[in-house]
Amino acid sequence: MTFNKLANFLTLISAVSGGLVLHESRSAAPAGFISQGTAPVTDLLTLRFGLTPNNLSGLQEKLVSISTPGNSDFRQWLSKDEVKSFVQPSNETVAVFNSFAAANGLKPTVISPNGDWLSLTLAVSQANQLFGAQFEKFSHASLTEPITRTLTISLPSELIGHVDVIHPSTSFTGRNPGFARVPFHPHSFEKRTEPVASCLATGVPIDFLSVGGPPNSNASDLATALLDTNTFIDGVDHPPSVVTTSYGSTENQFESSVAKKICDNYMALGARGISILFASGDGGVRGGHDNSSIPGVCESNVFIPIFPASCPYVTAIGATQGFNPEVATNLTGGGFSDVFQRPWYQTQAVDSFLKTIPPNFAGKFNKSGRGYPDVAVQGLSLDVVFEGKTSTNGGTSFSSPIFASIVALINDRLLAAGKPVLGFLNPWLYANAKRFTDITEGHNSGFECPTSSAAFDATKGWDALTGIGSPVFDKLLASAFEY
Ligand SMILES: *[C@@H]1O[C@H](CO)[C@@H](O)[C@H](O)[C@H]1NC(C)=O
Ligand SMILES: *[C@@H]1O[C@H](CO)[C@@H](O)[C@H](O)[C@H]1NC(C)=O
Ligand SMILES: *[C@@H]1O[C@H](CO)[C@@H](O)[C@H](O)[C@H]1NC(C)=O
Ligand SMILES: *[C@@H]1O[C@H](CO)[C@@H](O)[C@H](O)[C@H]1NC(C)=O
Ligand SMILES: *[C@@H]1O[C@H](CO)[C@@H](O)[C@H](O)[C@H]1NC(C)=O
Ligand SMILES: *[C@@H]1O[C@H](CO)[C@@H](O)[C@H](O)[C@H]1NC(C)=O
Repeated sequence: MTFNKLANFLTLISAVSGGLVLHESRSAAPAGFISQGTAPVTDLLTLRFGLTPNNLSGLQEKLVSISTPGNSDFRQWLSKDEVKSFVQPSNETVAVFNSFAAANGLKPTVISPNGDWLSLTLAVSQANQLFGAQFEKFSHASLTEPITRTLTISLPSELIGHVDVIHPSTSFTGRNPGFARVPFHPHSFEKRTEPVASCLATGVPIDFLSVGGPPNSNASDLATALLDTNTFIDGVDHPPSVVTTSYGSTENQFESSVAKKICDNYMALGARGISILFASGDGGVRGGHDNSSIPGVCESNVFIPIFPASCPYVTAIGATQGFNPEVATNLTGGGFSDVFQRPWYQTQAVDSFLKTIPPNFAGKFNKSGRGYPDVAVQGLSLDVVFEGKTSTNGGTSFSSPIFASIVALINDRLLAAGKPVLGFLNPWLYANAKRFTDITEGHNSGFECPTSSAAFDATKGWDALTGIGSPVFDKLLASAFEY
């Protein structure tokens, strides 16, 4: 015992004198990942560095102001350059990073239009030494080949306050496609020019943004795909007014610094007037999918939040079914983040929901976290037409594009009237809950897990199955024109 304590103490001392400060660590790889041993020291790694923005709190303050109904600058969305003025790293931060790289014989490449992401290519041995890491190869049943990750990573002390993220390091998002049920489209940044019919809306122009490579290639992981999507949109002069994504992963598979950085990027996109939508997951309280053939999944009372739905700067979309009454589907993803605190716009709504939960409730979840979803839309027994074949399917991967269509139709009319688009939605949505059909029935134990499994129950007002409810188009449209 004494020896262990001493050893820990010595480790700490040497870490400090070596100028390394612990950045991220996890005690083990997430379930399913198996170490294949240390990565060959001569392998080359390309690591991305997310630099600290010069005024993130200023951007957040601005976003709160322009997205809250009633403010004089409501919907005065920022330009690309205005967003960049908040997000770009300071000259000091850039200088500190460049001198760190030069001192170690490395040449950084700027990989984002706002200058907030740089990459370095270096040998595993040098990465281990510079960042107090031990990169290993990890395999997983869903991966075609192992990924290179470390369970711990540190920052040289001179980079503290200048670097927010080193990626990939302790994130284990793999190539897990999350819960998307709509087939992956294998072309990069392909722009469709022909009219596309989507969900409720015909003739809405749609661009497919495909990242991560074709399904059977050495594709990047989900965190990387989300980062690439964001930095691509950051650089587009005329971005889409709505973006919907049906991918997600268990929140704890992301390093929290990476999840926060990706989420802050959604804040920046929201401030530009882009509505960012994510499907809330198809496993109810049990993450992306509830798989009853995995022992213990249905019996576990520890609820599993998913990201990016758990980011407060996206609008998370759950699924309903039926009419009169319209009820929550059993698969509708919902719960509470362990990374993001409850945001200002939902404090009251979520507090009221928490009061409806009985004291002897079996489920374990984080009461202080951001609650999701925000809204819900029909998501069961819907037709999907793919490569000329029609099939019937369901999931929040349907609900999110349907809600995106509704937002796009409202934006179309706002633009035609010379008004700004809806942009970051949530403060406006929560202020207009009465424009939604309140969904008060349902239990989100999952698609496969028995209804006796612990889960949330839909109730009057906001709930962690359907948010504030299902939109009533005419009412929402009227509200959009009231400001
Ligand atoms: C950060 O942005 C806010 C505007 O939201 C501004 O008031 C403040 O002066 C900015 N701070 C710096 C250091 O530029
Ligand atoms: C960074 O330096 C350039 C000139 O080198 C200057 O034009 C710019 O204003 C500086 N940016 C900040 C944020 O201080
Ligand atoms: C994946 O990358 C490895 C080398 O890192 C290469 O040997 C292999 O052929 C690649 N696989 C595919 C499907 O591209
Ligand atoms: C559920 O888990 C089993 C066992 O691991 C696996 O064979 C099956 O493919 C999984 N089902 C789904 C829908 O992912
Ligand atoms: C609960 O969420 C908060 C953020 O809202 C976080 O700081 C805290 O660590 C979380 N607790 C657990 C046990 O995950
Ligand atoms: C979940 O709901 C669907 C659609 O109503 C139903 O087919 C399925 O059996 C339900 N799952 C369970 C475990 O009850």
